[in-house]
Amino acid sequence: MKLNIALLAGDGIGPEVIDQAVKVCDAIATKFNHEISWKPALTGAAAIDAVGEPYPDETHEICKNSDAVLFGAIGHPKFDNDPSAKVRPEQGLLKMRKALGLFANVRPTFTFPSLLDKSPLKRERIEGTDLVFLRELTGGIYFGEKGRRDGGETAFDNCVYTREEVQRLAKKGFELAMTRSKRLCCVDKANVLETSRLWRETVQAMEKDYPEVEVSYEFVDAVAMRLVQWPNSYDVLITENLFGDILTDEASVISGSMGLMPSASLGSDIGLFEPIHGSYPQATGKNIANPMATVLSAAMMFENFGLLEEGKAIRAVVNNALNRGIVTEDLAEENNAYGTKEVGDWLAENV
Ligand code: IPM
Ligand code: MN
Repeated sequence: MKLNIALLAGDGIGPEVIDQAVKVCDAIATKFNHEISWKPALTGAAAIDAVGEPYPDETHEICKNSDAVLFGAIGHPKFDNDPSAKVRPEQGLLKMRKALGLFANVRPTFTFPSLLDKSPLKRERIEGTDLVFLRELTGGIYFGEKGRRDGGETAFDNCVYTREEVQRLAKKGFELAMTRSKRLCCVDKANVLETSRLWRETVQAMEKDYPEVEVSYEFVDAVAMRLVQWPNSYDVLITENLFGDILTDEASVISGSMGLMPSASLGSDIGLFEPIHGSYPQATGKNIANPMATVLSAAMMFENFGLLEEGKAIRAVVNNALNRGIVTEDLAEENNAYGTKEVGDWLAENV
């Protein structure tokens, strides 16, 4: 297969972890006879510094004309501490999600047998955890009208959802549940929020089309609690944009390191694949960041092309590295950490 992949390394540790994923993908291409053509493009603070815009038109053109986007990370502290900044790196990611129609963010959380004791949660709580969040990505409070009034003394962010936006996300949730254990949890705050009542009502109306799927409805605050009490009681969870943002960060620590969790953003022909961690400024350029989340995001990319064996090969080599302790400092025993690049080299050589 011939694949054109837009490569958006972004900020912070983005370029370092992306380099490792590229090595692994190239090794997969050689092994399985594919041809990958990488199309690097600017995004985030790196793009603001270069051209004044976090998602330049040129980058959008490259993404639009690719089969998928592999993304590193976005964000820079110089913007975080400046609430008055008009242009922010994060706007690039939001603009890209909207422009590419990526309304469904797939964020799995699973455990690795060799890492059960790395998790901050007790082994017996997390053993067997294998859940997937489907987070709505192009609506809700992130994209509603925002602004100031009363001479700047009052601020507002509107949360808006249409039935159609809920339906298309929920449809993906039901379909995913059908391929798994047929359990779907709709996460909302329907006791308080009108948008949540629309979510609940819409999902309830869809239940009849998927009679085999057992649907539960839970409030977001209760899910936040049960997620760390009994994560292995969940399978597929669907939720709106902001709840999904928060809960998936929470869920990511279950596996033992946020540096392990991949994600896919889907909705149109072009998927975007990225680690769920951020730009980790403190680690930038130190060759210590864990590249595995990005490498596993590449596995999701191959799987989304229907190249299941390729995805499996990547997952297998990551597991193999974890079992042998070929890991970065977030997972290493004292003084036994490998560098970002060394982990990437090992994965590419052993794929
Ligand atoms: C994420 C990130 C983004 C989000 C930021 C960088 C805009 O936290 O992908 O979860 O909030 O969606
Ligand atoms: Mn987030």
